[in-house]
Amino acid sequence: MVAALRIALIGAGNMGRQHLHHLQHVSGAQLCALADPDPAAAELAAQWAVPSFADHRQLLETVRPEAVIVANPNALHVATTLDCLALGIPVLLEKPVGTTPDEVAQLLHAQRNLRVPLLVGHHRRHNPLIARTRELLRQGAIGRLVTVTALWQLQKPDSYFESAWRREAGAGMLLTNLIHDLDLLRHLCGEVRQVQAFTDNALRGYANADSAVINLQFDSGALGSLTASDGVAAPWSWELTSGENPVYPHQPDQPCYLFAGAEGALSVPQLRLWRYAERGAGWHQPLDAQVQAPTRDEALRLQLEHFVRVARGEEAPLVSAEDAARTLALVAAVERAAESGTAQRPQAPVPG
Ligand SMILES: NC(=O)c1ccc[n+]([C@@H]2O[C@H](COP(=O)([O-])OP(=O)(O)OC[C@H]3O[C@@H](n4cnc5c(N)ncnc54)[C@H](O)[C@@H]3O)[C@@H](O)[C@H]2O)c1
Repeated sequence: MVAALRIALIGAGNMGRQHLHHLQHVSGAQLCALADPDPAAAELAAQWAVPSFADHRQLLETVRPEAVIVANPNALHVATTLDCLALGIPVLLEKPVGTTPDEVAQLLHAQRNLRVPLLVGHHRRHNPLIARTRELLRQGAIGRLVTVTALWQLQKPDSYFESAWRREAGAGMLLTNLIHDLDLLRHLCGEVRQVQAFTDNALRGYANADSAVINLQFDSGALGSLTASDGVAAPWSWELTSGENPVYPHQPDQPCYLFAGAEGALSVPQLRLWRYAERGAGWHQPLDAQVQAPTRDEALRLQLEHFVRVARGEEAPLVSAEDAARTLALVAAVERAAESGTAQRPQAPVPG
């Protein structure tokens, strides 16, 4: 029998703890250490009966883990991952892959040279609902994709903004939340040719936008829109509709993505597939709807199981650093489009 992969966690906050919760149910892996400067992390390490370190470099040198999960603050992602890759240690890196094009270029360069496995944690791609959506779109279930309407509309409570960094530039809805939707739109609809965007912060008055409307033109010719606000009493978001994370009350009857094609339409997460019974039918005939939903499963656990196989060299990462860098480039294009008032093209990442 293959021994369990010895995995260390760097950054044991909200997301790191979620990874730990799911790691318990991954038979091919076991936690071997954690690193986090917060004193609370030492207590957590004691609960898990593993050593804890304030500095991740000390962990890497002392414990020599076989793989690492990096879930520390965004600004530390690239530097921490470079330290792991330099020692030949495979990494599951939380999103975003980095914060600036320069540091992401440095990471792509290092990974290309060192060839150490790296998976980026855009975990929603591992959700069976998304895997089935992609399969249906690729099989031509709705014919040629013509439009996609994505919704991310919910209410963050005032308490969310009590942490000062959440009110300041650099931590906004776009990089924290909409990056997930933009990543899924790329994953499901292909690369984006150009974007237009309006953003607004009038609801709360903080530095970051609280509302946005983004128009997308895909390389395929399909057109899309993403309408978003974190200050509205509305149920239309992946968080509330998918049931992926139990901390959000589930609104199972509401959609967050609507794909419309020449021969049908698909609502997500219901995976309700709309088609006419006969070819050539139109708006005077009824549309039939069939549900295509797969068996539910936990995306974060599936991502960890995939990571174990990636770290062992058995599978290519579902989300490579280069792929995640393209999602980050799309976020940057949306920011430029909102600032400039002109359409912007995502700039493909170049290894430094
Ligand atoms: N995939 C998702 O859906 C998702 C959701 C939330 C957060 N995230 C990502 O996870 C990461 C962490 O976010 P979070 O919500 O857990 O934040 P958090 O503030 O709860 O946790 C961050 C942790 O990192 C620790 N830390 C700070 N400096 C460190 C260092 N030098 N070395 C090691 N640890 C250090 C902090 O003490 C804290 O415990 C972010 O990159 C975020 O984008 C992803």
